[in-house]
Amino acid sequence: MIEIDFVRQRFIKHFDGQTGNVYTSPGRINLIGEHTDYNGGFVFPGAVDKGVTAEMRANGTEDTVMAYAIDLKDRVDFKLSDPAGPKASWARYIYGIALEMKKLGVPVKGFNIAFAGDVPLGAGMSSSAAMESCFACGLNDIFGENKVSQWDMVLAGQATEHNYCGVNCGIMDQFASVFGKAGCLMRLDCRSREFEYFPFKPDGYRLVLLASVVKHQLAGSPYNDRRNSCENVVRHIQAKHPEGKFETLRDCTWEQLEEVKAEVGEEDYKRAKFVLGEKDRVLAVCDALNEGDYEKVGEMMYKTHEGLSKDYEVSCEELDFLNDIAKENGVTGSRIMGGGFGGCTINLVRNDLYKKFVEDAKQKFNAKYGHEPKVYDVVIGDGSRRLC
Ligand code: GLA
Repeated sequence: MIEIDFVRQRFIKHFDGQTGNVYTSPGRINLIGEHTDYNGGFVFPGAVDKGVTAEMRANGTEDTVMAYAIDLKDRVDFKLSDPAGPKASWARYIYGIALEMKKLGVPVKGFNIAFAGDVPLGAGMSSSAAMESCFACGLNDIFGENKVSQWDMVLAGQATEHNYCGVNCGIMDQFASVFGKAGCLMRLDCRSREFEYFPFKPDGYRLVLLASVVKHQLAGSPYNDRRNSCENVVRHIQAKHPEGKFETLRDCTWEQLEEVKAEVGEEDYKRAKFVLGEKDRVLAVCDALNEGDYEKVGEMMYKTHEGLSKDYEVSCEELDFLNDIAKENGVTGSRIMGGGFGGCTINLVRNDLYKKFVEDAKQKFNAKYGHEPKVYDVVIGDGSRRLC
């Protein structure tokens, strides 16, 4: 986690010497349940010990925001009343969340903000959700008497992605960032929004991320295309069954998917097939975790990878390569994590195999791609909070 002092010194230096309040929000991992959130399914995320930390203070203006991205050494000032908003992509998260919090009744006025993060960018750990929930937490505290609920902050973060950043994402990332709890994964039903904390202490195993350091870009078409495919399949199933109510793929059965196979086309069919399979896999993982059967959990992770790679088509050569190395090393479970198109694999590995696996992955990946993957041991941390 970023030290409070690191941000504070820069906040003081960069603005008028005064201090504000400091907030932090984490990135996330996801054990299983990928691309299921916007399909009304289940996800199994946890917050990590890396995140975004921001110092914020009302600056007395009506609607001028002065923002400093410490890591980028980039300063952007903008007005909340400017309909276009700032151009810098990082500043759009501040602009977006401020407007979304206003919609929720928080009387946001001008403020100063400086922030830094240690969620590796493009590693699939959702640095963007960490920003949104951190800023939402700060605005709620400074201007809103903390009246906005945690769930509304989750939804404001998601709306920021939809309305200002061009990513039609689900609610998993923002949920994990806001609700995270140290040592616990969370099983969330994305339709009912019910969730439970699952203490995660895999005796004899550990979770490690291998980041390909290949950039992924969810904005624009590839992510949204997948979502459109799923929604298209639902529309076709609904048309065939006017008597039923089909909101998302959660409501659809394998038989119904088969019925529309010819009309939706191969690509949409394969995508929906992945989602239906993933829905079943998350539930199988819950049972396996209850029984302490990590070999079963791992088996499901490999199946998810295969589906994400072949049917959902969100993997890439580098991540398939890392997945193969995991298999060769007898790693219990391995799969691409997050939205895809780059990022990292999440690996459930027995303690006794860990060292050899990581060394082997570094060496083989380097030999093929000219750089080592980055290795992150997963530590499950707490969600959004005020630090001081
Ligand atoms: C991204 C999105 C999430 C989710 C995952 C895939 O991280 O922000 O809502 O859809 O991809 O599971």
